[in-house]
Amino acid sequence: MSEILVENVTHHFDAVLAVSDLSFRVERGEIVALVGRTGAGKSTAFNMIMGALKPDQGVVRVAGHDPFANSKALRGLIGVSFQNDRLLPWLTARGNIEFGLRILGVPAAERRKRADSWLEQTKLDGAGDLYPHQLSGGMRQRVSLARALAIDPSIVLLDESFSQLDHVTSKTLREDFGALARRLGKTCLLITHRIDDAVEMADRILVLAPPAHVVMEARPRAAGASPKSLQESIERALGGEDGAAEGTERTLAGGRPALVARGRVA
Ligand SMILES: Nc1ncnc2c1ncn2[C@@H]1O[C@H](COP(=O)(O)OP(=O)(O)O)[C@@H](O)[C@H]1O
Ligand SMILES: [Mg+2]
Repeated sequence: MSEILVENVTHHFDAVLAVSDLSFRVERGEIVALVGRTGAGKSTAFNMIMGALKPDQGVVRVAGHDPFANSKALRGLIGVSFQNDRLLPWLTARGNIEFGLRILGVPAAERRKRADSWLEQTKLDGAGDLYPHQLSGGMRQRVSLARALAIDPSIVLLDESFSQLDHVTSKTLREDFGALARRLGKTCLLITHRIDDAVEMADRILVLAPPAHVVMEARPRAAGASPKSLQESIERALGGEDGAAEGTERTLAGGRPALVARGRVA
């Protein structure tokens, strides 16, 4: 059974067709990246997988459950991290990492032990007592990833988790997180508008064109795969859709302001 199954899924926001007949699977232990420009429908797809949105048509299953109808069954099974770290400013790094464990009812001593272990594994040793405003952007994103992992989910969903960091910080974090996720055998779905995020992190890349449907699939870690030529063919696959390949920044941001809906990612 696939850990994530999306089959012929469509979603409209009134007249806007955000996702059209999208199908893909993520197998256990796989790291899959969905890449597309801003507005391609990535976050809408992500929200349906998290169970925050209901598809108009089609089937979404996460670990065999319908995430919208049966969100309780997925409690503790999914860890999520976003572009904005969404840390609680009144809690320390350790407190933020412990937060999900507290919700799951893990006793205090055990929470502390686990949080300290995640601080170490995400290279935040010594930062446990610092508050979010005392941390750099990269460190805050590390806390957010540690918080997602601390509940020991089998599936980790990342929405643009590396996208707001500068290229050097984001590269280091991607490498560290990718190694950790592989070592722990986590199933990961990363959505991103940055091709380099996908090429460096993923076992498999699905390139999305609006309204979210797959126009290209690639395996960057396959023998003989060249990151540079892969980068170029993804740029072509995206540029071909609307004739507007981005320049040297190699990002796909469309310059359109992201829409924010309560409790969902935009
Ligand atoms: N809450 C919403 N209300 C209306 N339109 C939306 C909403 N969220 C997204 N859209 C529209 O759906 C399309 C896909 O958006 P989104 O899934 O956010 O794309 P991405 O995450 O790839 O940038 C866009 O045209 C966007 O304007
Ligand atoms: Mg988005």
